[in-house]
Amino acid sequence: MKLGIVGTGNISSRHLDEFQKIENVNIEAVCDTNEQNLNKFLNKYKSNNIRGYSTLEEMLEKEKNFDGISNTTPDKFHKETTLKILEKGYNIFCEKPLAENYQDAREMVQAALRSNKINMVNFTYRESSAYQKLVKIVKSGEIGVPRHVSACYYQSWLASNKWGDWRNDDKWLWRLSTKHGSNGALGDTGVHIFDFTVNAVGDIKKIFADLKTYYDKGDKIKNYVLDANDGFNSLVRFENGAIGTITNTRYATGHANSLILEVFGTKGGLKVELDEERNKWSTLHVCQNENINKMSWETVECSKTPSNYQNFIKSIQINKNIQPDFNQGAKIQKIIDSCIKSNDNNSWIDIN
Ligand SMILES: NC(=O)c1ccc[n+]([C@@H]2O[C@H](COP(=O)([O-])OP(=O)(O)OC[C@H]3O[C@@H](n4cnc5c(N)ncnc54)[C@H](O)[C@@H]3O)[C@@H](O)[C@H]2O)c1
Repeated sequence: MKLGIVGTGNISSRHLDEFQKIENVNIEAVCDTNEQNLNKFLNKYKSNNIRGYSTLEEMLEKEKNFDGISNTTPDKFHKETTLKILEKGYNIFCEKPLAENYQDAREMVQAALRSNKINMVNFTYRESSAYQKLVKIVKSGEIGVPRHVSACYYQSWLASNKWGDWRNDDKWLWRLSTKHGSNGALGDTGVHIFDFTVNAVGDIKKIFADLKTYYDKGDKIKNYVLDANDGFNSLVRFENGAIGTITNTRYATGHANSLILEVFGTKGGLKVELDEERNKWSTLHVCQNENINKMSWETVECSKTPSNYQNFIKSIQINKNIQPDFNQGAKIQKIIDSCIKSNDNNSWIDIN
């Protein structure tokens, strides 16, 4: 199977590495408007003989035989590039967030429907086998009706140098600037924790969100105005009656990249804690049956589940869209828009 990648920055190497692990899948060509990033990528993967282009248009004109294209451009460019890819009739694997807002996300859903092509959004943390098991248990009713949910996404790149100095790196600076198309922590990593939670527990009915930007970081670096939120807290009410908190920060000292989800039902509790090194991605914590009164938790090791990359390829092979698709990406975008509205109006927002 022949794939292309649009955007050769930070995350593109992961796309190449993950796709190349799959039998008979090959990255044929890539493009990037930034010559330096394009050349760095082509140099790194010299032995793969990948063809490089300086625009998407040129790549689409000269390459005729893709089975699918990965979109790893920054958030701001997802819509325009994805629409061009779908128009050419290619299956698309797009990075999160699907778009900058719900309206744009809906347009992308409509374009995907019109083209009748496979469309997926890379909500990475669905790949955890412990998380997959948690979702199955919640949906089976084994822990009863969900009552209380706590979900946190913790990063610390504004308070540590684990991923370098954000002040000197474009890949962090665009994430701090609304003018560069970022909805801050909410749009960048908030989308992950909302997808993670909603896919497990069910749809959110109402939300109240408090977004925070720390202006003492400075107003501007290069041409990046540092006005996007650095974290948020949200209170949620689910359609199924459960309540919860969903939070996210880039100042969580001691956490490079952690997602923690706890779901408490009328007949048991479940917890997953994903870490940067993926050491805990298969470990599910369960409290049910006789353990409920003992306050004891069982640790369950879960067998590996397919990656999003494998699911994209499988979707093409079986001609059936495996989740998460663009519709899910748009649903999450609606929650993001509602958080912004809630913060601006200082009020609860009905999602639908
Ligand atoms: N799923 C995940 O866990 C995960 C992790 C990291 C990043 N991401 C997402 O991946 C995307 C890229 O993030 P990144 O950290 O790699 O950013 P980056 O800034 O390092 O790389 C983006 C690249 O896209 C290029 N580009 C911009 N516009 C283009 C266009 N029109 N055509 C071709 N190339 C273009 C840029 O020049 C840059 O080289 C973002 O949307 C981000 O949210 C997802």
